[in-house]
Amino acid sequence: ITTETITVGGQTYTKDAFSNVTPTILEKTTRQLHLIPTHPVAIIKDLIASTFPDFKHYDTFSPVVTTKENFDDLCFAADHPGRAVTDTYYLNEKVMLRTHTSAHQLKVMTESDKILVTADVYRRDEIDASHYPVFHQMEGAQLFDAKTAVEDIKALITRDLAAAGAASKAIQTTDTTVITPENPKQAAHDEAAMLAVADHLKHSLNLMIRRLFSHEKDLQVRWIDATFPFTSPSWEMEILYQGKWLEVLGCGVIQQDILKNAGKPDKIGWAFGLGLERLALVLFGIPDIRLFWSQDERFLKQFEPSKIQKFKPFSKYPACIKDISFWTPEKFHENNFCEIVRDVAGDIVEDVHLIDEFTHPKTKKRSVCYRINYRSMDRNVTNAEINELQEKLREEVVQRMKVDLR
Ligand code: PHE
Repeated sequence: ITTETITVGGQTYTKDAFSNVTPTILEKTTRQLHLIPTHPVAIIKDLIASTFPDFKHYDTFSPVVTTKENFDDLCFAADHPGRAVTDTYYLNEKVMLRTHTSAHQLKVMTESDKILVTADVYRRDEIDASHYPVFHQMEGAQLFDAKTAVEDIKALITRDLAAAGAASKAIQTTDTTVITPENPKQAAHDEAAMLAVADHLKHSLNLMIRRLFSHEKDLQVRWIDATFPFTSPSWEMEILYQGKWLEVLGCGVIQQDILKNAGKPDKIGWAFGLGLERLALVLFGIPDIRLFWSQDERFLKQFEPSKIQKFKPFSKYPACIKDISFWTPEKFHENNFCEIVRDVAGDIVEDVHLIDEFTHPKTKKRSVCYRINYRSMDRNVTNAEINELQEKLREEVVQRMKVDLR
């Protein structure tokens, strides 16, 4: 990193001590998978959007937002861990790549009472088949007049259930959540109105998931308590997939301060945010999250707009495995190491994991050994090419993390 500025989407930002976006990550901002109608991410997006037909849908917002939009406007505490440079990509201290679509809540809620926002979001993370530093979220929110919310919602739910008919019973859902001191009602809210909004939220999302999984008769859905700075009470929906509960969305009753700031103090509302890749993995049976980024026709040509169909695996190219060992510096964070791996090798890295570590009995220095699995989604990689990458990686690791290789 030598230049003093970073340019994204035609805008230039001045770097400072926070800047940690890399060219590999910035390249992703141009891909816009959710806008390619035959891409699984976009197919799921469109199917979900069709269950919220009269919502205003925004899907072309720039991924570059201010820390105010991503955190402060959403009531994140000043020391919230999500703000850490190890978890978030910063252009500089004030400007970042959004970590969630909630970053646009305040703005869109000033414009409409029923909104959807779909976008690519960025989080620094480990590397494996289910973690990738870029993914796609859909945000939804609906606002009601606080005074008439109870009656308005009753009418809406009655109408929906009549329209859904038998389909509304097709999926078993479990909800053991109640309002507790740990997951409280906001002081500003009337209890009956808040409970009606919570009911409508879960009802709407149950209907959405039933529609999405209409072909899977025994899908199991459950609701659990959750915590977000910008909603209270808050919940997560999980679905049972291959014997494990998988989180698909977070949601809750919007913090009243946000509605006040949006110029709508007399409204009450709910919001949710869901991960599109998670649902696409399950619905299409896609085994590796990196496939979403594949440019291989054998992937891209498989799908059609608005249609869920099982992914047909094609043969994988061979893997090439390399290990790297080093003495860790005092402040070592695995995400920083993964970032360098990703920056040097990009999507050719399938997986990075710690295979060995020990602390020297005398010096107390800690040594780690990481195994890197290189494999391309699209082509054969040569051993010579991987050796070269590995050599580059060794240099970069020394230079950027000031470690001693072993
Ligand atoms: N933004 C939250 C996340 O990324 C999800 C969420 C959205 C939760 C809206 C509540 C309300 O995890």
